[in-house]
Amino acid sequence: MAKKSSTHFVCQNCGTTYSRWAGKCEACGQWNTLVEEALPSKESPTATGGLGGKQINFTSLRGAPEILFRLKSTIHELDRVCGGGLVPGSVILVGGDPGIGKSTLLLQAVAHLSKGVNKTGSPVKCIYISGEESADQVRLRALRLGLADSAVQLASTTNVRDIVATLDNNETPDVVVIDSIQTMYIDTLDSAPGTVGQVRAAGHELIRLAKRKGFALFLVGHVTKEGTLAGPRVLEHMVDTVLYFEGDRGHHFRILRAVKNRFGATDEIGVFEMTEQGLSEVPNPSALFLAERRGHIAGSCVFAGIEGSRPILVEIQALVAPMGGTSPRRAVVGWDSGRLLMILAVLEARYGISFANKDIFLNIAGGLKISEPAADMAVATALISALTQKPAPADMVVFGEIGLSGETRGVPQSELRLKEAAKLGFERAMIPPTRSKKNKAVDLKIYEVGNLKTLIAHFTGEN
Ligand code: TYD
Ligand code: MG
Repeated sequence: MAKKSSTHFVCQNCGTTYSRWAGKCEACGQWNTLVEEALPSKESPTATGGLGGKQINFTSLRGAPEILFRLKSTIHELDRVCGGGLVPGSVILVGGDPGIGKSTLLLQAVAHLSKGVNKTGSPVKCIYISGEESADQVRLRALRLGLADSAVQLASTTNVRDIVATLDNNETPDVVVIDSIQTMYIDTLDSAPGTVGQVRAAGHELIRLAKRKGFALFLVGHVTKEGTLAGPRVLEHMVDTVLYFEGDRGHHFRILRAVKNRFGATDEIGVFEMTEQGLSEVPNPSALFLAERRGHIAGSCVFAGIEGSRPILVEIQALVAPMGGTSPRRAVVGWDSGRLLMILAVLEARYGISFANKDIFLNIAGGLKISEPAADMAVATALISALTQKPAPADMVVFGEIGLSGETRGVPQSELRLKEAAKLGFERAMIPPTRSKKNKAVDLKIYEVGNLKTLIAHFTGEN
C-alpha cells in the first residue's frame, strides 16, 4: 500500500486544500497560491479501539435545555453582543482593522472578568497572551487604562506549542486571550506566521485545547482593508462566535458587531467610545449619533433603525451638487450604493424627479454602517430635501422600505423604533401604513405614507 502523504497543498488566498500541487486554484481562480503544508496529525483509528471507536450516546430532542453558565465581564455592551456573557469552552474570534482598539477592548474585558467568580465560586482566572507587544508594553497600556492592579496573567509569546504545553500542564484558566492569531506559529510548518496554513493550524490547536479544558478563548484577528478577515477568515467556521470591531479612526466611537453566534443572537451590536482611558460603553447610542445634528438643514433626515435587538436613531445626510466631472458621481458612506441607485431610479422613472447631471453624496453621520432596507424612505427624504433645498421637519423620524413601483413597505419592529424616537424627544414620524395598533399608543404624531408620491408632496406641496 502506498504511504499516505503527510502534507497537502493549501491555497493561500481562499484556504482550499488539494492533495497535489497545481498552478491555479480551482476554487478561487488565483494563480500560484498553493503552498505545501503539513497535515494536522491524527491519532490512528486503532488507538481508539480498533475500527469501532467509542460508543456515542443519543438523546431525544425533547427534554429541558441545559441553562448555560456564563461569565459576565460587567461591560454590558460586550456581554450583550456575546449573548449574555461568555460560555466556558466557547471560542470567540474578534476581527477588526489594525489600531481600531481590539487589544484595548480585550485587555479591559479580562481585567473586568477577573473581578468576578466562575461556576465553582472561585475568582475568574484570566490569561492574556500577546504576540504583538512585549509584556512591558501591555503593562504600560494597563497602567494607562487604570487596570494595573488587576489579577490578569500576562505573557508575550508567539509559539503555539509553548502556549498549549503551558495551559495544559497548569491550573486551567477560565478565559484566555490570544492577541493576535496572525502572529502565532506552529514550528512543524515552514510557512510564515499569518499565512492561511499557520493561522488555521494554530487556531485549530488552540480551539481544541479550549474545548478540551473548557476555558473561553478569544482569538484576535486583523482584517484587511477590504473588510475581510483574510487569514483568520478560515477560522470563522471553527469558532462559536465571530465579532467584528468596526469604526472609523476619524470618529471616536466603535461598534462591536456579532456576525455569528452559536450562543446568542447575531446582528447584535455594542457601542463604545474610545477615550483617553480606553473604551467606555455608550448605553444610549442614539443620543451620541444625533449629538452633532444641527436640525432644520436641507438634505438631512433622521432614520429610526434597528441594530440587533436595539433601536438606534441616526442622521442620514444627502448633498446634491451640480455635476463636477464628465459623469455624475454617486458617493455613499455607510450605506449600500446599489440601493441608492435603486431609489434614484424609482424617483426618476415613477415620479419624474431627475438627478441626472448632478453629483450625489450620501453619508450616514457619525460613521455608522447601515444595512437595513428600512432606511430607504429616510434616504429618499434626504435626497428630495437636498434637491428641493427644503429641510425635513427637525422633529420627525422616518423609516420604511421602498418597492420598485414607489410603494412603501412595512418593516419589522416599528413600535420599538417609534418608542426610541419618542424617548429622544421627536414629535413626528413618517412610516409605511401599518395595521399594528401598538404604534398608535406611542406618543408621536404618525404620518402613514403609502407611496413616495405622498412623501414628495411634503416637500413640493403644502407642508
Ligand atoms: P489597539 O487596542 O492597540 O488596537 P488594535 O489592537 O485593534 O490594533 O488600539 C490602538 C489605538 O487606540 C491607538 O491608536 C491609540 C488608541 N487608544 C486610545 O485612544 N485610548 C486608550 O486608552 C488606548 C489604550 C488606546
Ligand atoms: Mg492590538
